[in-house]
Amino acid sequence: MKKESAYLKAARCEEVEHFPVWLMRQAGRYMKVYRKLREKYSMLEIIKSPELACEVTMQPIKAFGLDAAIIFSDILTIPEGLNLGLEFVEGKGPVLAKTIMTQSDVDALDVDLIPGNVDYVIKAIELTKSELRDIPLIGFAGSPFTVASYMLGGRKRDDLISFMPMVLSNLPMVCALLDKLSTITIRYLDAQIKAGIDAIQIFDSWSNYLSWSMFKELSIPYLRKIIQGLNNPKNIPITVFGTNYSVFYPLLDAIGANVISIDSHADIAVARKSLPKHIAVQGNLDPNFLLGPRELLKEQTLSLLDSMKGTKGFIFNLGHGVLPNVPEDNVKFLVDLVKNYRAI
Ligand code: CP3
Repeated sequence: MKKESAYLKAARCEEVEHFPVWLMRQAGRYMKVYRKLREKYSMLEIIKSPELACEVTMQPIKAFGLDAAIIFSDILTIPEGLNLGLEFVEGKGPVLAKTIMTQSDVDALDVDLIPGNVDYVIKAIELTKSELRDIPLIGFAGSPFTVASYMLGGRKRDDLISFMPMVLSNLPMVCALLDKLSTITIRYLDAQIKAGIDAIQIFDSWSNYLSWSMFKELSIPYLRKIIQGLNNPKNIPITVFGTNYSVFYPLLDAIGANVISIDSHADIAVARKSLPKHIAVQGNLDPNFLLGPRELLKEQTLSLLDSMKGTKGFIFNLGHGVLPNVPEDNVKFLVDLVKNYRAI
């Protein structure tokens, strides 16, 4: 039998000799090979081509020897697959051509379009699996609230101030959208599981806009619905991530996730202790340390590792994604530091 990866063992809270390491946004603009490919192809062309998506997924694996790969794609493939028209605008980020304004817009969304319309992601997973061999591949989706925030027009820079008041004034319509997106996300992730992914991460990136009470209404039930509703015969581990999620940890053990991604505001050792033993943690070096002096990067990384030494259920990562202007050498330095550190 093939040796189980440190990433999967840690996600299951089993003992490991060395803490596994991967980084959110480990593929992308900070890498020269990626920027070179982007001179020829747009972001959408890359994610819609299984060969290019596979190539980009492999770039950080080949360069840094990480313990897990994450399929190169985006959380907005779902609205794109629902024919809402996705575009990545230079310097502005993702924009959808159509937004959801009314209950009849929600009713018009066709659940059956997924996974057929995102078959390019499924093909990219199959291709990447055959290249990776022993390294686990993480599949992903955005959380319903995060994907909905784009579909409701809330992520256009100028609309951020009016976004939450709009959500709160239209709760029945928003909840109907979240429920429908949960069903769609289950269909999407089920297809990824069938294609062979080894783990799942759900990006609940924009739930930090929610109050405690609204997080319980607009995020928790839909995360739970997805996790409970998946057809996951091998019980592959599921991670949830949220930007500045620390305050919500006490609510998260109820959703059935196996790993909770911890942001950089929290003391990860304290978070570890406050969560049930069977839930693993992932995190949480501040991504800014990859931009600072090497000595500080080393000191901060070792202090994080020391605080987790002897702990089961720890996956090293950043508190959020790698920033676009990070020097590649610093990433290599960080990964080597973690890989050479004895966990027990
Ligand atoms: O390596 C990986 O982590 C896999 C690839 C990945 C991307 N997006 C590629 C990408 C993943 C997991 C995502 C998830 C994603 N996409 C999230 C959740 C994660 C988070 O950071 O909270 C969100 C909110 C999005 C939506 C999105 N896509 C934004 C806001 C942007 C613009 C920001 C930016 O960095 O330019 C994108 C575009 C995007 N997605 C890029 C990449 C590599 C930049 C593409 C480019 O210009 O070349």
